[in-house]
Amino acid sequence: MSNILVVQGSPRGERSHSRRLAETFISAWQDVNPQSQATRREVGRTVIAPVNEAFIAAAFHPEPQARPLTMRADLALSDTLVAELMAHERLVISAPMHNFGVPSGIKAWIDQIVRIGLTFNHSLDNGVSQYEPLVLGKKALIVTSRGDFGFGPGGQLEAMNHADTWLRTVLGFIGISDVTVVAAEGEESAEHSFARSYAEAEQRLLALARTF
Ligand SMILES: Cc1cc2nc3c(=O)[nH]c(=O)nc-3n(C[C@H](O)[C@H](O)[C@H](O)COP(=O)(O)O)c2cc1C
Repeated sequence: MSNILVVQGSPRGERSHSRRLAETFISAWQDVNPQSQATRREVGRTVIAPVNEAFIAAAFHPEPQARPLTMRADLALSDTLVAELMAHERLVISAPMHNFGVPSGIKAWIDQIVRIGLTFNHSLDNGVSQYEPLVLGKKALIVTSRGDFGFGPGGQLEAMNHADTWLRTVLGFIGISDVTVVAAEGEESAEHSFARSYAEAEQRLLALARTF
């Protein structure tokens, strides 16, 4: 049995296409996996604290076991979010494209869960950095919606996509390399049928729910 963590990144609520697509997927996935639990983590309509100096000092403390209480408090949210990620075998991130990247809540969530000693390790081998991913055995799905179109592989705007492509990089860095991306494109485009793109994304998600 797998449990699924859904990280919701759109600042929009009911109007959000990426949220609605993700909910379609979760509902279908739960039909296939009736014993499984879905946990929703809101990061789009609430403020996830950005990394600050106190966080950095605490996270990179040379002796993590000897962190003073104040430093542990500075990492409390991060510890919670990392534990939540670790407790789920499947991860869904729903997020619109914002300014060619991810919305700030998704960036803040990533900054909280990429933690040395917890989700990755770093060492030097003859002066060369070695990275060890620590989040193993998970699969991720990124469900996204975009105003323009052509950001996927081979598309005319592919080089401007720093959203799901960046998520793939950073998830891989911590060990989640099995990542599927499903996108609906063209919400703000006159030349592209968003309705068709949305319907295709829905069909892909319904099919994926059987195997994810
Ligand atoms: C602040 C902001 C920035 C955006 N930046 C982009 C962008 O860089 N590229 C793009 O194609 N669409 C962009 N959009 C459009 C959204 O990606 C599009 O409306 C998407 O469908 C919203 O998803 P949601 O309904 O899940 O919130 C932007 C929208 C907002 C509000």
